[in-house]
Amino acid sequence: MSFSLPELPYAYDSLTPYMSKETLEFHHDKHHQAYVTNGNNLLKGSEWEGKSLEEIVKGSFGKNAGLFNNAGQHYNHLHFWKWLKPNGGGAIPGELENALIDSFGSVAKAKEDLIAAGTTQFGSGWAWFSVQGGKIVATKTPNGENPLVHGGTPILGVDVWEHSYYIDYRNRRPDYLKAFVENLVNWEYVAELYAAASK
Ligand SMILES: [Fe+2]
Repeated sequence: MSFSLPELPYAYDSLTPYMSKETLEFHHDKHHQAYVTNGNNLLKGSEWEGKSLEEIVKGSFGKNAGLFNNAGQHYNHLHFWKWLKPNGGGAIPGELENALIDSFGSVAKAKEDLIAAGTTQFGSGWAWFSVQGGKIVATKTPNGENPLVHGGTPILGVDVWEHSYYIDYRNRRPDYLKAFVENLVNWEYVAELYAAASK
């Protein structure tokens, strides 16, 4: 299976003012496209050719850094576009809301922990909610890593590479993270992944 770039599931200008058309044009059309192109070149002739994306990400971790970086980033961005939506944020579906309260004490604390993980990730990387041992945890990973290679199932990830926020927020990463959590997250998609992860 080779990698391919999906269309964005909304218009490029539909996440303003929280994420601009210009950011999405660069982030989706240039950065994600590069992971797809480079990933396909590195996959060709490797032992992972023909495997599923998850198998490639897990299998290449620690074994083939070039392939892992691009396959990991392809996986992360495939989901990232769906973790965003116009008029996002707002109400969290009940089952997911209860799970966040159960795991963090409150929804506010869950959001705070996700923002703290993203703020304290030194350099490029991601902040996550993932399901591990029946609980939702907030973690951070460097570069293209994600919870799949650390024993968890990712249900929400926020890209903290500078390419995701520098055009709109310059160096103000915490403001981008706050906007992500309050105004951009597609909680319905997070709830869908949570339901699948807790089966
Ligand atoms: Fe990115």
